[in-house]
Amino acid sequence: MNILAIETSCDETSVAIVRSGTEVLSCIISSQIATFQEKGGVIPEEAARNQVEYMLPVLHGALEQSKIQWNDIDAIAVTRGPGLFGSLLVGTTTARALASLHRKPLIGVHHTFGHLSSPWLGIADTPCFPLLTLSASGGHTDMWLRTSHTKGTLIGRTRDDAAGEAFDKGASMLGLPYPGGPSIAKAALEGNEKAFSFPLPLKEEDSLDYSFSGLKTSLKYAIRNLQDQEIPTADLAASFQYAICHHLVERLKKALQRHPEVREVHLVGGVSANIVLRKMVGELCSKEIILRVPTTMLYCTDNAAMIGAAAYFLHQEQGDDAFIARETCASISLEETLLQ
Ligand code: KG4
Ligand code: ZN
Repeated sequence: MNILAIETSCDETSVAIVRSGTEVLSCIISSQIATFQEKGGVIPEEAARNQVEYMLPVLHGALEQSKIQWNDIDAIAVTRGPGLFGSLLVGTTTARALASLHRKPLIGVHHTFGHLSSPWLGIADTPCFPLLTLSASGGHTDMWLRTSHTKGTLIGRTRDDAAGEAFDKGASMLGLPYPGGPSIAKAALEGNEKAFSFPLPLKEEDSLDYSFSGLKTSLKYAIRNLQDQEIPTADLAASFQYAICHHLVERLKKALQRHPEVREVHLVGGVSANIVLRKMVGELCSKEIILRVPTTMLYCTDNAAMIGAAAYFLHQEQGDDAFIARETCASISLEETLLQ
């Protein structure tokens, strides 16, 4: 089954063609990072206008790269939410127009379900359920215990900021460019992660939830306490990065203790590109537990290939019900719509 997938939930315009959920025939991603770096963050109206401009060149590029014709495409998949409404509309409107023009079925995909499906891209073997997925991005931080692609339980979620959001806000406080994750990771390479000690969030609670807003406040005070001294950016970046990763890993450790049946841990979403996090989770996983991350960094951050994979698995587990056209929606819960 060849699926043409479109992802436009934020400031990336991406189109991919994915065969049977794993083989990526093409994946083009046009990012607006350079535009928003100067402005310190994404401006939604501007992101949507740029999506309109980039959509057709990206679509044509993906078709050309895949070397397949419209006749060989079996369905069209699109991110229907959550995300920036204007940006989402560009993708969903394009997908509806293409589906109608080429008479193809349309599959609406939850953005997070796309991230959850990203470890399947480009692999030859088959991951084993039940598995734990930590999905950490700029918009959400969720831990799922999954018994199949579409069945599972949300066992941990953030109560305030997302992990990627903490990186982005921390970077802004340190005067580092947007997006914060990669710039904190880069600055941290020269720093000492033990130079500053940030408190472990929700330490006393017997829960698998996350909280990152306190860490952000601690960073603010650490900077303020330096008064007139030169800001040790590398040390602060390294210590702040360690604190975020430590919180994420400590929750995973607790989840693995509670669920000894789990044989695989998946790290997905933009924050899964973080090398320190990967190393810490790798150390946590024993020989019997496989750690999977997306096969390339491009599949960690937003991309259409993961939406193509997710659509395939939806169709595999839900049959033609997956083709029911769903509304574009800026805010939708994956727990209520799919994984139950
Ligand atoms: O999944 P994604 O591309 O978009 C959303 O769905 O939000 O994730 C973007 C987030 C940003 O907050 C960015 O700072 C973070 O992922 N990120 C990273 C790294 N690369 C991207 N965080 C930590 N380390 C990285 N290397
Ligand atoms: Zn994302």
